[in-house]
Amino acid sequence: MAGTQQPEVNIGLVGHVDHGKTTLVQALSGSWTDQHSEEMKRGISIRLGYADATFRECPDLEEPERYTVEEECADGSESEPLRTVSFVDAPGHETLMATMLSGASLMDGAVLVVSANEPVPQPQTEEHLMALDIIGIENIVIAQNKVDLVSTEQAQNNYQQIQEFVEGTVAEDAPVVPVSAGQEVNLDLLIQAIENEIPTPDRDPDVDARMHVARSFDINKPGTSASNLTGGVLGGSLVAGELESGDEIEIRPGREVEEGGQTEYVPIQTTIRSLQAGGETADTVTPGGLLGVGTGLDPALTKGDALAGRIAGPPGSLPPTWQQFTMDVDLLERVVGTDGGEVDDISTGEPLMMTVGTATTVGAVTSAREGECEVNLKRPVTAEPGAKIAINRRIGARWRLIGLGTLQE
Ligand code: GTP
Repeated sequence: MAGTQQPEVNIGLVGHVDHGKTTLVQALSGSWTDQHSEEMKRGISIRLGYADATFRECPDLEEPERYTVEEECADGSESEPLRTVSFVDAPGHETLMATMLSGASLMDGAVLVVSANEPVPQPQTEEHLMALDIIGIENIVIAQNKVDLVSTEQAQNNYQQIQEFVEGTVAEDAPVVPVSAGQEVNLDLLIQAIENEIPTPDRDPDVDARMHVARSFDINKPGTSASNLTGGVLGGSLVAGELESGDEIEIRPGREVEEGGQTEYVPIQTTIRSLQAGGETADTVTPGGLLGVGTGLDPALTKGDALAGRIAGPPGSLPPTWQQFTMDVDLLERVVGTDGGEVDDISTGEPLMMTVGTATTVGAVTSAREGECEVNLKRPVTAEPGAKIAINRRIGARWRLIGLGTLQE
């Protein structure tokens, strides 16, 4: 199979349930993001689901026909690889915005999939766009999917609805590309739009590596003898710098330790034993896509996502760990979702669920003031001052996104 280069950009795939995200990724990449495997060999699909696609170019053809994912061009010539992108599939049926938001922190851009045969917006279309808006993901392409199911007039009508819906949002100027993921129609136009709108960010290889750990595993078969155990594996994304096999890393806040009824977190240090990116073993990895990091850790420490939500990087380089923090708060006007009412002010004593990077933690508000509040966390998080925090409040049976916080110094 061609295109085994490491993905260099993460593109979120968002939109309402059944609007065709999975079908679209499948058409572009030939993989299926719903596949869950715990083996490093098969690549680590985190609960968000990642799938890589290599975009290719046919040098002799005009735009948009020159863009393809096939090795053979329409004119029979051979295509050349442009770049490999990693699609991050935010599950539309997931009611917790946190999953979407923790994925969004790793997204360099997004494709919003909107079905042409339903009124706009459907609830998650709205929720996901709002999440992109508050997280500040500006590079967006809108895929108007399933155009094979509607008449030209219906498609135009739906297109108008999309335009009205995105007016005043971060997606206001996003191109709307009519496609049929199912029939593989206009995929070239979509690739062209993604190439133009979602460039690979400039990365500085000299800054300290920063990895967001989204999952962690024990990949050993039950009953493996101690001498044959493979060390614990971390799955996640690198957001800055480079990692190399043999590097020492520190993981914070670290592992949970119970002592005298108290839970503490102890930072962990380990050596990178192996690296995997884009489904391939690598000596060095750079940001983009999903990483598997084989470590020297006791696999009992990494079993069952025990280290999800942590941050890893060179020892001594990691940002502070917070058991409590103060954040600036920007509340939404309305609660996201169909029946969303107005968002009331945050009050002292109320519980909030917060997502910072890939970490999700619950906290109690110890002091609420105009535009900011102080929270005491159940589980500490490691994060840079200035980090964005998705704030959720319990409304009825679910946590609902009510605003965006910014971690104060
Ligand atoms: P979740 O992962 O559940 O959020 O759904 P999804 O957005 O990934 O949608 P999925 O790709 O599973 O597609 C939902 C249904 O729509 C499936 O039955 C697809 O076959 C169908 N579908 C997707 N794209 C198209 C299209 O372009 N045309 C038609 N006719 N059907 C499509």
